[in-house]
Amino acid sequence: MRIVATQKLPGQAWNDLPDVELLDAWPPREPLPGVEALVAVVARVGSAELERLPDLRLVANYGVGYDTVDVAACRERGVAVTNTPGVLDAAVADLTLALILACRRHLVASDRFVRERRWQRGWAQPELLGNDLAGATLGLVGMGRIGSEVARRAEAFGMQIAFHRRSGGLPLDELLRTADVVSLHVPLTPDTRGLISRERLALLRDGATLVNTARGAIVDEVALVDELVTRRVSAGLDVFADEPLVPERLLDLPNVVLTPHIASATAETRAAMTRVLVENVLAFAAGTALPNEVFG
Ligand code: 8YV
Repeated sequence: MRIVATQKLPGQAWNDLPDVELLDAWPPREPLPGVEALVAVVARVGSAELERLPDLRLVANYGVGYDTVDVAACRERGVAVTNTPGVLDAAVADLTLALILACRRHLVASDRFVRERRWQRGWAQPELLGNDLAGATLGLVGMGRIGSEVARRAEAFGMQIAFHRRSGGLPLDELLRTADVVSLHVPLTPDTRGLISRERLALLRDGATLVNTARGAIVDEVALVDELVTRRVSAGLDVFADEPLVPERLLDLPNVVLTPHIASATAETRAAMTRVLVENVLAFAAGTALPNEVFG
């Protein structure tokens, strides 16, 4: 079976795959007949890309979110799609808490303060005065595997947990109005694109913090930047609408902590994601049921 990958993946399990050809460009410049499986890492796979791989039968997506893959277009051509759920919940939840703490305790600004040799007396500057996690309300938008892991950690910090999900919890607008920290844990779908709109951002309490480790396009990014520029709220952002582009206006703001989509980026988690992906490719090669097939 001919397998191609947009890049090599970390971890031992990669070696369990039979020969994999690494592509030097995505999408490939020329059609690649005979390729049956594609290992896709942050790669858009839609009709145009599928045309370059006329014999494709499997897209194995490296990540739990598969919004870059047009699952309907794949299905129309008889191409199965798999993802890597379950193994990255802890790592994403850890980074979420790190961003919450970084924002609420001005961690990045404090680090900069020391490095810039501005610490001149043994008393913190007023602008570095933060807010307790204990007693604050964390509003989770989405309460699946990752949201639940975030809740577990936040409870240990003494936070009160509120959540919104399709079937239950608080209505979204009420959650946004009442939480001190709002964290997003829903996939990017047509229903969630722009879910946190300009109007909804205006519902956030003064001094609230928005954390996004899910997908940038869940938030109206222009509206978010407009809101952040006023410094009324703060944000911890790991994801952006058009990565790797980060809105220029964010770069000098002290009320924003920015990371480059690293929520799952630990050696252990990335290796586990590789293992899940490889299990799916091997199942496909063996003609057995795909452990993590997605259907859109
Ligand atoms: C990855 C992710 O960084 O799993 C996801 O949905 O966003 C991250 O784990 C991304 O998929 C690239 O590998």
